This record gives sequence, structure tokens and C-alpha cells, in this order.
Amino acid sequence: MLFRNRFLLLLALAALLAFLSLSLQFFHLIPMSAARNGASSKSRKRIMPDPVTEPPVTDPVYEALLYCNIPRVAERSMEGHAPHHFKLVSVQVLIRHGDRYPLYAIPKTKRPEIDCTLMANRKPYHPKLEAFVNHMSKGSGSSFESPLNSMPLYPNHALCEMGELTQTGVVQHLQNGQLLGDIYLKKHKLLPSDWSPDQLYLETTGRSRTLQSGLALLYGFLPDFDWKKIYFRHQPSVLFCSGNCYCPVRNQYLEKEQRRQYLLRLKNSQLEQTYGEMAKIVNVPTKLLRAANPIDSMLCHFCHNVSFPCTSSGCFDMEHFKVIKMHQIEDEKERRKKRLYLGYSLLGAHPILNQTIDRMQRIAEGRKDEVFALYSAHDVTLSPVLSALGLSEARFPRFAARLIFELWQDREKPSEHSVRILYNGVDVTFHTFFCQDHHKRSSKPMCPLENLVRFVKRDMFVTLDSSSTNYHDACHREGV
Ligand SMILES: *[C@@H]1O[C@H](CO)[C@@H](O)[C@H](O)[C@H]1NC(C)=O
Ligand SMILES: *[C@@H]1O[C@H](CO)[C@@H](O)[C@H](O)[C@H]1NC(C)=O
Repeated sequence: MLFRNRFLLLLALAALLAFLSLSLQFFHLIPMSAARNGASSKSRKRIMPDPVTEPPVTDPVYEALLYCNIPRVAERSMEGHAPHHFKLVSVQVLIRHGDRYPLYAIPKTKRPEIDCTLMANRKPYHPKLEAFVNHMSKGSGSSFESPLNSMPLYPNHALCEMGELTQTGVVQHLQNGQLLGDIYLKKHKLLPSDWSPDQLYLETTGRSRTLQSGLALLYGFLPDFDWKKIYFRHQPSVLFCSGNCYCPVRNQYLEKEQRRQYLLRLKNSQLEQTYGEMAKIVNVPTKLLRAANPIDSMLCHFCHNVSFPCTSSGCFDMEHFKVIKMHQIEDEKERRKKRLYLGYSLLGAHPILNQTIDRMQRIAEGRKDEVFALYSAHDVTLSPVLSALGLSEARFPRFAARLIFELWQDREKPSEHSVRILYNGVDVTFHTFFCQDHHKRSSKPMCPLENLVRFVKRDMFVTLDSSSTNYHDACHREGV
């Protein structure tokens, strides 16, 4: 009996770990062959390549730096670009929260000493930082759906709590907000100067880091942040699927994907040896160390330039870090081949994409509310959306990543609307499943809204398996 209980406990623990590791194993997504036209993955470039700095072979340290997304001064961005006879009519923004403290502690070591209070004399800094703190401290409880109204509106612990947003995270989103405000409000006048609360749609998961990230972005974005005009809805699911979360086939894909990950890990003897060495340093069983997800903590050390943890038996070092990251890269290569994650993603991302096109269609019909929508979310939200759109060559969502859906109206043919998709400032519209062949078939410079609508309502299920044409059937299909 005792043995059996222990076995069940271990099973549960293994399942939990698999889930946690899934959310942290996607540090960069590598090209996946296109779903239907079978284009070779070799011919597809990864999104966000920078010909000046991109190293010729995958470099785990370079990838980790991109992931940290340390705020720099100049950022190139392609948001808000269209031929002059197009008018911007709606923008929807899906973000990952900014830089945060680790979610797990490495056993028997001191947690990294990072200060999560916001201070003007600390880097990185943003000119709106003090005004942000000042404004947040006067926050209004009526601006939030429960349970968000009980949460702190900005990070404030001298030793960060687990998962807390850092100053870097706040600055990343102040910067995102300011960049988008300059483009969408100053240049394109998306909101009138006397905008009303129902022109914004704001939604966040119930974590302080997502709520605070959303607030920082909005504070950077709006010229007049007025608490009376702000209302954040609470989203209980990281997939933003509320009301449509029940989908057994999606869970089956996820279980198979986790099993694939587990088997691949067992095959990597260098990885096992590395975990073994690290476990010796902290003097705990290897299983326990792996369970603490050391790469998450090590990334925090790395992004904040704090040396890796040590004990009297030695230190974690860059070689350990590189081995774990290289394994993640191998893992993604295999994941792309097996396509189980694509199945999970198509079903997991459908509800939020459905909500996105629904809002676009209402605007296209002439409605004027919810012209700007912000969803403040997690890596496990953005990854499936990217993959479902066909952007699996995009990198894993870095801190403060942003995915944007723009809707444009053709002034010359006002009934025609077009979409643009941007990931971290890069126009990826013509990499998506629904518009990758557009140039071959049409001379229009922009991707028609109908393409995205047809994809979300029907084609995404056909991509998954040709017998289902709607969400309900695809979620309840037998024998995956
Ligand atoms: C990282 O820390 C080291 C030692 O504390 C310091 O010499 C170096 O300049 C720091 N690097 C950055 C980018 O801040
Ligand atoms: C898709 O959106 C429509 C319109 O808002 C809604 O009625 C429907 O329930 C949604 N379906 C799914 C599966 O999210």
C-alpha cells in the first residue's frame, strides 16, 4: 500500500515536472516544414535574423542573451507600416511579461540577490519610471476584476519574491508601450484624444508579473493614463481559452509531446552527466536537482550578470549552462519533426485566435469599441499561438516579447480589410500558414482579413487532420 502510494506520488511528480519543463524548454523555436506545401525547413530563415550579429552556428550564449532582452536604446520596428491609402483601424497586442525572478530555487544554495524595488539610479532605467511608480501607488481597486484588485501594482520587494517582475521587466514594457504609443497613437491616431474606456480591451492572467507588465506597457503607451478609464479583466487560463477550455484531444497531444521530451532526455548522456555533476555540487539526488529546473535560475543569474551559485563543493558554471541549452535546441529540432506540439498548439490557440478575429470582424463592420486590445500573458501562451500561426521558426518568446495583430482598412475600397502580424517588431505576415502563398496568388500588397478568418474558422483544423472542420470535432476526435 505504502509502496503503491509512493509510486502514484512519483508519477504525479513526474507529470508535474514534465509540464514545468515543457514551459521552459522552448528557448528557441527552429524552422518547421510548412504544414501543407511541404516546403523544406532548410530553406526557411528563422525570424528575427540579424545579418550583422547572427552567429553562423547556433550559439547557446547568444540565444540566452536574446532571451534576456536587456533594454537598449534603439530598436528597429516595423509596426504601423502600410501603403498610404490604408488606414489603421484596430490593434491587438499579446505580450509575455517582462524579466522576472526565477520560479524555483536551486536546493541548498543562496537565492540570487536581486532587488525588485524600482529605483531611478539603477539600470536599466526609463524616463517614465518614477512617474509610473507614483501613478501606480495611487491605483484604483475599481480598475480590476477580482482577484486582480488585491494585487500589488508594481514590484516592491528588496529581495525579489519567486516569479516577481524586476525593474528590468518594468522598463522593458514601459519601452514597448512608448514605442507602440508613438506609432499607433501619435502617428496613426488610433484613439481619438477624448477616447472612452470601452475603446480599450485589457486582459491578464492572475499573476502579479503579468498584471504589472500590462500596466507598465499601458503607462508607456497612453499619453494620459487615467484610472477611471482602465479596466483589466482576469483570465484564469494561460491559454486564454475561458469558456472553451475543454479539449481532450489537445491534452492527448500534450501528453505525447511530454513523453517525446522525456525519451529524448534519457538518450542524452552528456546532459545526464551534467545534471549529475551539478547535483553533486549541491549534494542532493540528481532527480531533485532536475526537479528544481536549474536552467530557469541560471538564466536569471545570466541575465542579471550575477555569478552562478557555488557551494563548498564547487560552482555551477557556463559549461553546465551550455549543455542544458544545447539539449533544448536538440529537443526543438525533434519536436518540429514529430509535430505533436503543432497539434497541441492548433487546438490550444484556437480560442484566443477566434476572439481576435471576432474583434477584427466587428471593427470591419464599423463598430468603434475595443480598437486596442492588450492580453498580458506567458511563454506558454505565446508559444502555441506562434506555432499555430505557422511561425514555429520564430524564437522562443523572450522576456517582454510582443505579438501584434494590426487591422487596416483600404481607403480606396472601404469594405476591404487587411491584416499584418508582427513579432517583436518584425513583420511576419507572409510567414504565416494563412498568408505564406499570398504573393503567388494575388497582387495585393497586404494580406486580406478573410485569409486569417478562413484559417481560424476552418483551415487550422484541416491542417491538423483533414476530417475535422471545427473546434468541437477536432477536440473530440477518436484515436489521435
Ligand atoms: C558583469 O559583472 C562583472 C563583474 O562583476 C563586471 O566586470 C562586468 O562589467 C559586468 N558586465 C556587465 C555587462 O554589466
Ligand atoms: C468563437 O467566437 C464566437 C463569437 O464570439 C463564439 O460564439 C464561439 O463560442 C467561439 N468559439 C470558440 C471555440 O472559441
